[in-house]
Amino acid sequence: MTFDGAKFRQVLGHFPTGVAVVTGLDADGQPAGMAVGSFSSVSMDPPLVAFMPDRSSTSWPRFRDSGSFCVNILGAEQESVCRTFASRGGDKFASLSWQPAGSGAPLLDGVLAWIDCDTEVVHEAGDHFIVIGRVRDLDIGTPALPLVFFQSGYGRFSSLSLAAWESDLAVQMRSADLARPHMETLSDELDAECVASAVVGEDMVLVARAGSLRSQRLPSAVGQRIPFEPPLGTAFVAWANEAAKEAWLRRLGSDADAQTREVVERTLSEVRDAGYAIGRGARWHSEAAQVLTQDDPDRDRDKTAAQMHRLIQLLPPDYESPTVPTDDVRTINVPVFGPGGVVVLVLSVTVGGQRSLTADLPWTVTRLKSAASAVTKALEGSA
Ligand SMILES: Cc1cc2nc3c(=O)[nH]c(=O)nc-3n(C[C@H](O)[C@H](O)[C@H](O)COP(=O)(O)O)c2cc1C
Repeated sequence: MTFDGAKFRQVLGHFPTGVAVVTGLDADGQPAGMAVGSFSSVSMDPPLVAFMPDRSSTSWPRFRDSGSFCVNILGAEQESVCRTFASRGGDKFASLSWQPAGSGAPLLDGVLAWIDCDTEVVHEAGDHFIVIGRVRDLDIGTPALPLVFFQSGYGRFSSLSLAAWESDLAVQMRSADLARPHMETLSDELDAECVASAVVGEDMVLVARAGSLRSQRLPSAVGQRIPFEPPLGTAFVAWANEAAKEAWLRRLGSDADAQTREVVERTLSEVRDAGYAIGRGARWHSEAAQVLTQDDPDRDRDKTAAQMHRLIQLLPPDYESPTVPTDDVRTINVPVFGPGGVVVLVLSVTVGGQRSLTADLPWTVTRLKSAASAVTKALEGSA
């Protein structure tokens, strides 16, 4: 063998799993249970599932002979339930409510889904057992994101629409190509810079631009990245599903207070109602531009991202709100939709120097929206 136990665990920890609590009743009719990541479906006909308890588990032998078990799939909010069932000893059910499933095994309240089984066969496999159960009954429980376990840490699933934003650079580049002629026209007409951004990984990336800010020494460049975190990026998020919104809101950080989150969420609905977001204040814009255009080839991307992150945290949570009275609108952002209603690009008009878009706001918004809907149409997208 060219590896030890630590390496084995480390490498296998790179496979993410969901988390389930397998429960059953002991000989006295008392509930027992353990957290497992080794749950899997096995066969459809007959309907079989499996999980793999460690030989050292003290819970599994308690309900092994009952002949049945219930698999409770945990949601992202149930990390504490998982911790309880991953610990040894104590009354794991003390602060939990549950009901007996058809087999009698405990069905925990609030789980994502449950699968009630009769034990079909138990195989020995090294220091574990492979327990195969025949499904008696199953159902979906509370709708939520699943709890995910990866490299010894808990996390949650990033929704499909976030994944679409993050993965499909080809679609985004094609969209940018389609958008460019509209951007050129708009830029000439408004005598302003027009840019298109897409979400790539953790960032909003500038994928196309037209025109330049005559009064600004530091023009924006294609490829420039800004961390995709609140309060920035509302035009990407306002039309997204709940899970995608939640993923973005989580980037506020765990120490963000409830009020900040509330204002950010309100801003999202204002952006959605108005059909556009703004950016205001010249000072923040020029500070951000300085960070983004630092002329240092050795500068690594993480450092720039960290600096931008600190700048973003200085912004008020309603920074992009279209309803906050201001005479200093610097940027207007509107969404471009791809098929399925996913925002694939955001088109923005930006002015620098002494100029503000406030006076021309309604007209500029109308022009920008019609350019964005022309691109949406070209992409066969829909809002
Ligand atoms: C995310 C996660 C996944 C786990 N997966 C398994 C598993 O598949 N099999 C297993 O035997 N233990 C697994 N454990 C550990 C058990 O939950 C835990 O060691 C065991 O229940 C300890 O208590 P017991 O003696 O009451 O069984 C896992 C723990 C966590 C946190």
